[in-house]
Amino acid sequence: MSTKVQNVGILAMELYFPSQYVDQVDLEKFDEVGTGKYTIGLGQSKMGFCSDREDINSICMTALHRLIEKNNINLHDIGRLEVGTETIIDKSKSVKTFLMTLFAKEGATDIEGIDSTNACYGGTAALFNSINWVESSSWDGRKAIVVAGDIAVYGKGPARPTGGAGAVAMLIGPDAPLVFDCGVRASYMTHAYDFYKPDLASEFPYVDGKLSIKCYLSALDNCYNLFCKKMRKDNPDFKGLLSLDGMLFHSPYCKLVQKSLGRVCFNDFLNASPADREKQFPGLSQFNNHKREETYFDRDVEKAFMIYSEKLFNEKTKPSLHVAKNVGNMYTPSLYGGLVSYLVSKSPDQLIGKKFALFSYGSGLASTMYSISICKDMSAGSKLERLINSLNNTIAMLDKRQCVDPQVFSDLMDVRTKNYHTAPYEPSGSIDVLFPGTYYLVRIDEQRRRTYERKL
Ligand code: ACO
Repeated sequence: MSTKVQNVGILAMELYFPSQYVDQVDLEKFDEVGTGKYTIGLGQSKMGFCSDREDINSICMTALHRLIEKNNINLHDIGRLEVGTETIIDKSKSVKTFLMTLFAKEGATDIEGIDSTNACYGGTAALFNSINWVESSSWDGRKAIVVAGDIAVYGKGPARPTGGAGAVAMLIGPDAPLVFDCGVRASYMTHAYDFYKPDLASEFPYVDGKLSIKCYLSALDNCYNLFCKKMRKDNPDFKGLLSLDGMLFHSPYCKLVQKSLGRVCFNDFLNASPADREKQFPGLSQFNNHKREETYFDRDVEKAFMIYSEKLFNEKTKPSLHVAKNVGNMYTPSLYGGLVSYLVSKSPDQLIGKKFALFSYGSGLASTMYSISICKDMSAGSKLERLINSLNNTIAMLDKRQCVDPQVFSDLMDVRTKNYHTAPYEPSGSIDVLFPGTYYLVRIDEQRRRTYERKL
């Protein structure tokens, strides 16, 4: 392919979340914590979870198959399939190879790509690989699919209400309605033990909660400032948040996202000239000499900039939190659940020509801020309308889920934990409760080979 392709980005999307959830108000009572701790303190409403009937292969397959069906994708038109996940059930065999069962039965096996892993960042890495492939000399004219999925579970304790589960599948190619801006991706990667999974016999991570928040916010500072610098190369008038129509974040829990938007404003404040500070940030001069690295847990800075940013948050970020608030942290798909929420909150007319930034964070740590522009082109407009209509149908399924008592949720978590390494194994979780079209685990045999079926 010699001609450079234009407008590479997301052509279609599909989101999968489990059919069962636990209400965070009920969970507060069950865990005997103060009323409001999970709902107000963390900003969460509901938490999706899977029984032992679902695993990483099945949830990724459910999202992928739905994307293919809804968009009538010809499997031979796909030249790359990438997976991002941190839910590891096999130290060698990738989830991507399991997803190939769908393609291989149609004889479509010439498909590059494999899994990417680093906490919640793997989906973004997989996405960048696919975008890069379409823009590269290796591209053969076909499209790519990216699947990001995770089952986010924590042991009993303060981290448990920040769990969740889900998968997203995205069709990538040229002439897309959601275009990835070139040359402005800003990354920050370093070493930290904030959240990691060194115990391969357990599904649960080791988490240093406070350190993870500090790492997240410092990664945000670094990515945001570098992103602004790169944006200003082509557009010297770029004014950070004020020049963007939306700002979307990886969402471990919604309160951290609201604090993050305040943090972005604090960065804009520190970067402003003295004259601009007076004009744009009246009444905040007591923070003139504060330093980024000393303020991650400074209550005064946090409160002042959350108040300052409230209107901006409601306008540019809150619309992206619907899935995060109602499903929880899905890990790798979290940011893309944010993108889905943001898109369905507007009509195509309201979105055309808009630009928004996305912040992807994975503990350990890997992070990037990048931006997406909504294409103004007419044909992209109709693709955007199709994309939003299809996502509206998906989002409506949030209200069709079954609410489960926290005791039932806790018992199902115990079953998962107890049997995490059992083989042979026959799952006991209900098949009836699953949404039609959901893949589920039928058995694990003596050789730990897994068999699945799809609910009709
Ligand atoms: N009413 C209202 N708010 C309350 C109440 C109440 N009754 N009780 C507590 N709160 C508030 C607290 O003041 C606190 O708010 P703040 O953050 O503004 O200070 C908030 O609820 C949480 O309470 P804490 O006591 O600080 O939290 P705790 O120690 O129980 O744990 C944490 C919270 C660290 C987020 C934990 O859930 C965790 O470890 N989660 C997993 C790690 C995580 O998600 N990290 C984020 C980035 S990394 C990633 O994406 C995995």
